[in-house]
Amino acid sequence: MTTLFDPIVLGGMALPNRIVMAPLTRNRAPGAVPTPLMAQYYAQRATAGLIITEATAISHQGQGYADVPGLYGTEQLDAWKEVTQAVHERGGRIVVQLWHVGRVSHVDLQPEGKAPVAPSPLTAKTNTYLIKDGVGSFVPTSQPRALDAQELPGIVHDYRHAARNAVTSAGFDGVEVHGANGYLLDQFLKTGSNQRDDDYGGSIENRARLLLEVTRAVAEEVGGERVGIRLSPVTPANDIADTAPQQLFEYVVRELAGLGLAYVHIIEGATGGPREVDGRPFDYAALRQAYRDAGGQGAWMVNNSYDQALARQALADGADLVAFGRAFISNPDLVERLRSGSDLATLDRDTLYGGGAKGYTDYPALP
Ligand SMILES: Cc1cc2nc3c(=O)[nH]c(=O)nc-3n(C[C@H](O)[C@H](O)[C@H](O)COP(=O)(O)O)c2cc1C
Repeated sequence: MTTLFDPIVLGGMALPNRIVMAPLTRNRAPGAVPTPLMAQYYAQRATAGLIITEATAISHQGQGYADVPGLYGTEQLDAWKEVTQAVHERGGRIVVQLWHVGRVSHVDLQPEGKAPVAPSPLTAKTNTYLIKDGVGSFVPTSQPRALDAQELPGIVHDYRHAARNAVTSAGFDGVEVHGANGYLLDQFLKTGSNQRDDDYGGSIENRARLLLEVTRAVAEEVGGERVGIRLSPVTPANDIADTAPQQLFEYVVRELAGLGLAYVHIIEGATGGPREVDGRPFDYAALRQAYRDAGGQGAWMVNNSYDQALARQALADGADLVAFGRAFISNPDLVERLRSGSDLATLDRDTLYGGGAKGYTDYPALP
């Protein structure tokens, strides 16, 4: 039987185990530029089968929180190169999560203080994170404006450009399209945030159009074997909801099946919360089957509140990889701890977002 410690080939990458570090925003990139401390943090976790970086903005417009990194300027790419080199020197593999936040932003973070963009002018009932004079605070998101259809090719171009730079300039092994957690692509997908009456709203086919155009463009640019995608069918994160998620996501994965992606990454349930969401039943086995039946050969990666026993069960049930988020924050040597059955260190919630080394690079590995 397959275990977490069995190798797997993922696209062009040979992973020594099936334990993935999930993307984790930590707000430690002032001016959206990665730092040497980030290189140290990721290198400490290089024994993961695969590291997925924190969400990284593809454009200034795609920024939604203070001190999250970007991937659209030379300075950012050079700084990311230090990160990828540090991980590679430790024998690891690292892909970058490509992010456009859409409406989950604030005018203070947008170019020229303009309104954030969204499928429709509906404000998300959620908070973003600002840092003023060194002090961080959560503040409500700003009222967005609806994107004109003529602007959408520009956004697809920004994803394409970021993917190319990630691989050719910053040295990443690949990219993950962030289609989850109520950000731009998820806002287009779901009925609660998309009230458009053009080719990008209404039917499932129309709402899925932007996500599929973006993923196709990115796969064309860097090769599907270097591309993964993250989806969260029923999470309520960032005020997102859909009236028929099963049909929506089965359509999405069937369309993704032909793109030759390295992996599909599914958040099961409420991100960072319960694996079953009240009133939002979902059949994940049927989702995977829809992908396979359509010819999808990418690895199937699962996430959300997994422990070792649940992970073992997921592999037995047909998943290929398990992504761990919070456990990787406080356990840089998570792979070794799972292998040896050691206790896991607990997480300090006060140092999750912003700050320096404390609660970031000072969690020790076991001796
Ligand atoms: C501090 C923190 C930051 C996160 N940042 C991201 C992110 O940048 N991108 C993303 O897709 N998910 C993000 N998530 C969600 C995690 O990737 C993961 O889905 C969630 O923590 C559930 O997995 P776990 O139970 O293994 O922690 C974040 C979660 C936490 C706790």
